[in-house]
Amino acid sequence: MSQKDPVAIFDSGVGGVSVWREIVRQLPGEDTLYLADQAHVPYGSRALEEVRSFAEAIVRFLIEKGARVIVLACNTASAAALHHLRRTFPQVSFVGMEPALKPAVERTRNGTVGVIATHATFQGELFSSLVARYAGGVRVLTRVCPGLVEAVEAGHLDTPATENLLRQCLTPLLEAGIDQLVLGCTHYHFLRPLIERIAGESVAVLDPAPAVARQTGRVLAQLRDSAPSDGCGRHIFYTSGDRDTFAAQLALLLPATERPSDVRAAYWREGRLESDE
Ligand code: DGL
Repeated sequence: MSQKDPVAIFDSGVGGVSVWREIVRQLPGEDTLYLADQAHVPYGSRALEEVRSFAEAIVRFLIEKGARVIVLACNTASAAALHHLRRTFPQVSFVGMEPALKPAVERTRNGTVGVIATHATFQGELFSSLVARYAGGVRVLTRVCPGLVEAVEAGHLDTPATENLLRQCLTPLLEAGIDQLVLGCTHYHFLRPLIERIAGESVAVLDPAPAVARQTGRVLAQLRDSAPSDGCGRHIFYTSGDRDTFAAQLALLLPATERPSDVRAAYWREGRLESDE
């Protein structure tokens, strides 16, 4: 059975699964296509140009699979490539991600907010323009958290080592008195229980996945002139890493009822992404 006009979602790895899950919850009839570029995870410590070239090749792959709406379920890829992709592929509707600074600034009571994200996300123009547009008089403290993406990829969601990494990352923000913490990397969604335990009740944690899913719904409605989806909720997952490892990661991160059964391999060949099926 082939897919009808699938919504495509990509990330360097499993982080974007948090966004995929929200999309499936909010738009249950849609067919979806998910690509995890695990041959290159993590993206966050790479140069923006390199991430941009991966993203461009991934988009070509997803277009070949029939996608017309592509969600960058990755703050790093959005920072590196969103504008470039919109210019290069005008026939595609892109939904990008950015750290949820605007709601954090609206909600802060004490005027101090924290953002955790990858090095590359903070390097991109997208983040500086967010700060310029929305920070106003609010103090925005940023932290890169090395090792966290790797911990999530390894399934170490609540181990002493991951807790240690998180404490190192969050302590300066907590000591500075933040009352809002923005999760600026989709992988961090899966650490949310641990993050909330460390941050305590006085800090609100903001995860943009539901808002990204709502935006995806709006884009689809506009594109189809509000006609309902003619998909049947069929989901295909690809990884450029090891297929069996990816399937095991999905089994760990998703409840049995939400777990995709169709997990396939994709391969990088001379800068192009390909698959057998
Ligand atoms: N999950 C991604 C993000 O939202 C990328 C993390 C990485 O590969 O470093 O930024």
